Amino acid sequence: MLNSHQSCNIGFVGLGVMGKSLALNLADHGYKVAGFDLDSNKIKDVLETEQKERSADFSEARIIGCKTLEEMLPTLTTPRVIVLLVPAGNPVDAICQQLINSGLEPNDIVVDCGNSQWTDTIRRESEFKGKLKFFGTAISGGEVGARFGPSLMPGGDADSWKHLQPMWEAVSAKVDKNGAQIIQNIPGQPVTEGEPCTTYLGPNGAGHYVKMVHNGIEYADMQLICEAYHLMRSLLGYEPEEIGKIFAQWNKGELNSYLVEITADILQQYDNKTGAPLVDIILDCAGQKGTGRWTSVSATQMGVPAGIISESVYARALSTLTQEREIAASRLIGDVELGDIDPETVIEAIKNALYCAKICAYAQGFQLLRAAQTEYDWQFNFSDIAKIWRGGCIIRASFLQKIATAFSDNPNLENLLLADYFTNTLNDKQKGLRQAVVLAAQSGIPTPSFFSALAYFDGYRSEILPANLLQAQRDFFGAHTYERVDSEVGQKFHTFWQEENRPERPA
Ligand code: 6PG
Repeated sequence: MLNSHQSCNIGFVGLGVMGKSLALNLADHGYKVAGFDLDSNKIKDVLETEQKERSADFSEARIIGCKTLEEMLPTLTTPRVIVLLVPAGNPVDAICQQLINSGLEPNDIVVDCGNSQWTDTIRRESEFKGKLKFFGTAISGGEVGARFGPSLMPGGDADSWKHLQPMWEAVSAKVDKNGAQIIQNIPGQPVTEGEPCTTYLGPNGAGHYVKMVHNGIEYADMQLICEAYHLMRSLLGYEPEEIGKIFAQWNKGELNSYLVEITADILQQYDNKTGAPLVDIILDCAGQKGTGRWTSVSATQMGVPAGIISESVYARALSTLTQEREIAASRLIGDVELGDIDPETVIEAIKNALYCAKICAYAQGFQLLRAAQTEYDWQFNFSDIAKIWRGGCIIRASFLQKIATAFSDNPNLENLLLADYFTNTLNDKQKGLRQAVVLAAQSGIPTPSFFSALAYFDGYRSEILPANLLQAQRDFFGAHTYERVDSEVGQKFHTFWQEENRPERPA
């Protein structure tokens, strides 16, 4: 441990995978970090890694270890900046309290970098006012992202942002002028050129909300890829390696994205123990930590149609019913009938289905952000949000450049589907989505997110929906009233629907 009175730029509480990686990233960029973790082995580990990976430009340690929070505070320049990378929930409140007890001051900034629920961030910002400045910054990109360039989604008070901005811009992922991430995952050689994948998103919970929506889209994107895989596997009988190669091919075109890229790699991996494709050895029971579910709940609460995201959450839930599914598989049959299929045509259809459905899922995510800014009094710049997702994060994809352009061309764009590029793409490729859904239905292969995407697309482009009948039903049993197509908006009507009140049909 070094004597480093007020020499560190930033403190870290929590040196697990994400904390360690982000601390090393800051160190690579020349920042001096003070780190604390309840587990002294984690402190030791980060110090040893920093020593091993330290660039020749630095003659002394860029990270120091602290045994307690009290020991950490005097090492930091003021106002102090302390990053929390601890499990979301109670630990965040507990550490804030401990920091206050350890001598933190009202101007000091505590940055919660976990996957916290945005409502908690809003609450904490106001609860800790006058004791510390609570700031949210959500991180996407996993371990490698945190180490070499994540997408950072900050939200909190604007003054704190001014203080954090240089550090956040330094450590975040960078994209070139075409929107492609500049990747150089080499310790000690950080990327310093390019546009940073971070921007101030707004006050209090804005950053964590944007990250939650990112994760909702992540759930949808992953599920859609899984459904495309399932169709190729079960409908065409292709082996995982073959499908992996198809994904690798797709990754060279408009579907280019991190998730497609890793899927291609995963499917070409074999199990050391059995020699079988590794994906076949993995139990088909999906986990989730909650952010996708929060997105779906938030959409439902605000009345935003985000069915693809919700279906992706439900698909994970259904997958966990392992034993029930086993019983049901032997009792419930799929009465399916499938004609001749041409593999090449089917693959092209699935590819187009994936792109169309993906566009619809991102459109739903941005719709949700639009609703949230009204609900929470935020002012999002949708183009900037698309831009900071182009690099570093899990949903990074080439087509985010097109989303960024769509929103910069028209910041008031109501729905991504109405931007020229996306309108034309959907008009052109929707047949693939229809074919994929038909084939899935005919063969009994569950593709809930593809189905939902098509229903969303068809629903959104329908001038007339059967909600007129629904309104009549509501009025019938509950006198909920309805509006008429030939009257002023807002004018309510009620009908006495019983047979005895039914008028004669006019001649
Ligand atoms: C990211 C991810 C990450 C998330 C994991 C696990 O952007 O880096 O979203 O933050 O925690 O993907 O999420 P689930 O366990 O809910 O799948």
